[in-house]
Amino acid sequence: MLQTFNEKNRDLLININGDLIHRDQAGISPFDSAVQGGDAVWEGLRVYAGRVFKLREHLDRLRSSAQALAFTQIPTNEQLTDEIRKTLEANNMYDGVHIRLTLTRGVKITSGMDPRLNQAGPTLIVLAEHKAPVYRSAVGDKGLSLVTASTRRFPPDCLDPKIHHCNLIQSILAKIEANNAGADDAIMLDKQGFLAETNATHVFIVSGEGEPTLLTSRLVACPEGVTRSTVLDLCRANSIDFAERDISMTEVYRAREVFTTGTMGELAWVGKVDGRTIADGTRGPLTERLSTLYQELTAREGEQLVTQ
Ligand SMILES: Cc1ncc(COP(=O)(O)O)c(C=O)c1O
Repeated sequence: MLQTFNEKNRDLLININGDLIHRDQAGISPFDSAVQGGDAVWEGLRVYAGRVFKLREHLDRLRSSAQALAFTQIPTNEQLTDEIRKTLEANNMYDGVHIRLTLTRGVKITSGMDPRLNQAGPTLIVLAEHKAPVYRSAVGDKGLSLVTASTRRFPPDCLDPKIHHCNLIQSILAKIEANNAGADDAIMLDKQGFLAETNATHVFIVSGEGEPTLLTSRLVACPEGVTRSTVLDLCRANSIDFAERDISMTEVYRAREVFTTGTMGELAWVGKVDGRTIADGTRGPLTERLSTLYQELTAREGEQLVTQ
């Protein structure tokens, strides 16, 4: 799965600390903490008909991550929302838009990792792009193909995945493994060898034994996914049983259905894992039902920030 350049994004204006700058000129200082140490937190948000879906949840996760990293002068949700609105308006954006919101610890007085060298407050970057759900073209009639990576996800005693930070090296190493195997994405395990998530999304399976039950990993070695929690809310509202528990790869191989969740790609069904075809290799009924419920939700909910 390789994204391609979208002509509509050629003249994007990027918001850096409130200034709107053409993508070819936009940049941050070499003294910025994101450059110096990946010392930054981020969110990916999606815009549907001028509405940012689950805006508060994303801003709350950004704040929680920034607090855990002891950032100072964290912008309020109102300030962040104003900057997002300003960026969408400047780019005439309304629908089919993905926003990458990054907050770094800011510019340092000299290079070094010590947060005490940060004396200017954080740097805020709002990057909005025209971007359709990213797995749409990859799914086709075969679903996504995943391979298990040798790179593991950290547990909270190594680096708490509840901090949604910009050190994506673990994910990138796993993605390289997926690319080399000709797969769309990589499954990542926790330290015990149970399913954690993929390099970029959460994973759900419909169990292959007994009554079909929707299963997803506990929040131990994966972030607090906004889409994951939206899917679980949809289950509660529609009397769909689910469990959050450790899942071994054998359970994945014999699952009736497997799908991934994430803001960037919504719900995407998986046809193959480590060369094993999942069930009969077609999109399963629960995946289809939850995808429809999710689309209905994105079509009616969200914070209206811009109009056409
Ligand atoms: C590592 C990782 N897993 C999963 C997700 C999906 O989370 P969400 O549903 O909040 O987009 C993300 C998204 O940022 C992520 O970075």
